Amino acid sequence: MGGFAYNGNVFIMRTSDTNYIAISRICTHQGCTVAYNSSTKQFVCPCHGARYNASGAVLQGPAQRPLTIYTATVLGTTLTIS
Ligand code: FES
Repeated sequence: MGGFAYNGNVFIMRTSDTNYIAISRICTHQGCTVAYNSSTKQFVCPCHGARYNASGAVLQGPAQRPLTIYTATVLGTTLTIS
């Protein structure tokens, strides 16, 4: 996978030359902001220790639901998150 960036509470990762994924950084447990660990390729919540994989699926509770995934579309040099 390519690079990644944060735009507010949305994490954006480049997955190929033309594809990106956009994932909410809001933990589904109680709403803290998760951080991405590029070494482990996991999102980690600092509040109660929930962990999510790079696709937003729960690896470790207390969170029960995956992170919200947004649609990321590239048109020319513009990346649109919806
Ligand atoms: S708010 Fe993230 S684990 Fe509780």
